[in-house]
Amino acid sequence: MANVFPFRSKVSREQREHILNQKGLLIWFTGLSGSGKSTLAVQLEVMLHQQGFKTFLMDGDIIRSGVCSDLGFDVPGRVENMRRIGEIAKLLLESGLVTIASFISPFEKDRAQMKAKVGSENYFEVFVDCPVEVCEIRDTKGLYKRARKGEIKDFTGISSRYEIPESPDLIIPSSEMPIEESINLLLEKIVPRVRVPF
Ligand code: ADX
Repeated sequence: MANVFPFRSKVSREQREHILNQKGLLIWFTGLSGSGKSTLAVQLEVMLHQQGFKTFLMDGDIIRSGVCSDLGFDVPGRVENMRRIGEIAKLLLESGLVTIASFISPFEKDRAQMKAKVGSENYFEVFVDCPVEVCEIRDTKGLYKRARKGEIKDFTGISSRYEIPESPDLIIPSSEMPIEESINLLLEKIVPRVRVPF
């Protein structure tokens, strides 16, 4: 960008991670609304925190009521949502935090860009796989019913597409697997990535 000069801090990410005694990682939950992404993300953060990791959680409903409150759910709105979250995620990774992100993030291209933006070594993608029929029956927020009535347009799974992740690091079949088992699976994969070896 014109007239903007790159600025470098004198403390590196590695130095911050050294003090925190961990490696930063972006754990990216993707899936339909009501698939259980946020429930898993919240519980995963609790478990990592209890093990002494320094974490931060970003969630669609929070980000969209603040940083991205000006954006809609049409394609450009979703793309810009991802772009902003990516920039925030990069900063959080620089700070050395184990960053947990829970967003529908329906488009493969945007998820691939996220991975490229933060670097594949910093990215762990979790596909929370739950059939749309199950999400619709659960309908915890009542949004599917409203989308069916046409009161919400561009609703993922109803009137806007969700592209199945092509190569996630982990798939959680959330309608079949108990939460405890899912969390154990997540911890098994993630802890070795964020723990500093002795
Ligand atoms: S994303 O597709 O752009 O990644 P994001 O995760 O930020 O979506 O926000 C999803 C949340 O916004 C949902 O959990 C739901 O509560 C709410 N929402 C409101 N309108 C829509 C819509 N048209 N499609 C999907 N989610 C919506």
